Amino acid sequence: MEKRAACDHSIDDLLARRWSPRAFSERAVDAETVCSLLEAARWAPSCFNEQPWSFIVATKENPEAFSKLLGCLREANQIWARQAPVLMVAVAKAAFDHNGKPNRHSGHDVGLAVENLMLQAVSMGLFAHAMAGFDAGRVREAYGVPEGHDPLVAIALGYPGDPGMLPDDLKERETAPRERKPLMRFVFGRFWGNSWEGLRENRP
Ligand SMILES: Cc1cc2nc3c(=O)[nH]c(=O)nc-3n(C[C@H](O)[C@H](O)[C@H](O)COP(=O)(O)O)c2cc1C
Repeated sequence: MEKRAACDHSIDDLLARRWSPRAFSERAVDAETVCSLLEAARWAPSCFNEQPWSFIVATKENPEAFSKLLGCLREANQIWARQAPVLMVAVAKAAFDHNGKPNRHSGHDVGLAVENLMLQAVSMGLFAHAMAGFDAGRVREAYGVPEGHDPLVAIALGYPGDPGMLPDDLKERETAPRERKPLMRFVFGRFWGNSWEGLRENRP
């Protein structure tokens, strides 16, 4: 299933095709493919090139490891994420390595790495779905995540599946159009709240 962005201005096709499905195919994702996704994450930019990300990965190839990670997700996410062949948790390091001071941008940088991973996934015919709905404390305990590292977001990924496999409420969300605020609402020029002049001149 495709859920291409309905863009007001042209963007790259890869970006337009990315979306967050809940229906995944049973098709396994081989380890080399998972490595490519993580390699894409690795090449994200980061503040001071500190690369404050770590990833915990579990695939269905190892059912025990998979259910350990699945068990860290909130029930509402487990319902659909159990179908995905790969689960991950991205973890952010809170302080800089080079001076030990708080890294205000660590969440930002982990987000960049995750988006790199997601776009690489789309380029390879896969899709990834981020989840805030997981128990960070449980991840910390189950995997021995050290102090100063924060489990930030869980990710389910795999090849796209049939939305018909989802419960009715999720099926509806799966097929609903994707929506975004217009640029006018969040791109400002002279003052906060005053949209940037270029937008007015280039109104769709
Ligand atoms: C940090 C983050 C947390 C999210 N948490 C959840 C979640 O717990 N459960 C869920 O179903 N979707 C979750 N999503 C997916 C968003 O709902 C989705 O990205 C948003 O609705 C836009 O849809 P799109 O990705 O298909 O464009 C999350 C996305 C992000 C980036």
